[in-house]
Amino acid sequence: MSALAISAPLAFPPLVRALAPLVTLGAEASHEASAREALLDRAMGPGRRRKASEALRRGRLPAEGLSLAARDEADTLVGTVRLWNVAAGDDGAPALLLGPLAVDPAVPRAGIGSALMRRAIAEAQFRGHRAIVLVGDPGFYERFGFSAERAAALVMPGPFERHRLLGLELDPGALSGAAGLIRPTGRRASATGGRRPRAPGHAASVASF
Ligand SMILES: CC(C)(COP(=O)(O)OP(=O)(O)OC[C@H]1O[C@@H](n2cnc3c(N)ncnc32)[C@H](O)[C@@H]1OP(=O)(O)O)[C@@H](O)C(=O)NCCC(=O)NCCS
Repeated sequence: MSALAISAPLAFPPLVRALAPLVTLGAEASHEASAREALLDRAMGPGRRRKASEALRRGRLPAEGLSLAARDEADTLVGTVRLWNVAAGDDGAPALLLGPLAVDPAVPRAGIGSALMRRAIAEAQFRGHRAIVLVGDPGFYERFGFSAERAAALVMPGPFERHRLLGLELDPGALSGAAGLIRPTGRRASATGGRRPRAPGHAASVASF
């Protein structure tokens, strides 16, 4: 059973509750794909499609149960994060790539991005994944336990800034010895007729922007 079967309201601090919409987190619905793409364009701009992480996502389906949405009281999508099956290095250690993560820039800053991150990490752990990797700002992701040290010997399939490639072990030692190219391993979108991928078993997780 998915841990996301029941949407839970975010616990906004009382002082910002009046400024922020009541936001719930849950699994992304299939009809929200176009809203998600529009949100990503607004939050990140057109350059988002040229990132090295995109090469790990293109033509693949996200990891089972790891497409998350944040919605306001009107059920409008205000935040998104997805994770993708990858092999972390030459030994093929199963892992997840996290990203993109984005919150609608029109929504007051009130912890939605952090709540999406915490839910994504918890859901990945619940599903048996052993680690997560991502490309992003250390100043934001270190608070969730990500570090450049965990991904120091890994390489993205395209230009990337070394200090922004970060890893998080959900299971201690899961990224120990992981070295070499990060490769996509998720089910191909075209091979499934749009069906969701099956659970990947025991994998590690990676995030990217
Ligand atoms: C990054 C993003 C998802 C954060 O969402 P959010 O809802 O604004 O985040 P929160 O309200 O949970 O902010 C938590 C903290 O992270 C900080 N923060 C946000 N973006 C940051 C960044 N790029 N680097 C460092 N810190 C950052 C905030 O200042 C805040 O700090 P505080 O707790 O000390 O006040 C959102 O700003 C966004 O969509 N940005 C554009 C897309 C993007 O750049 N995504 C990838 C980020 S690497």
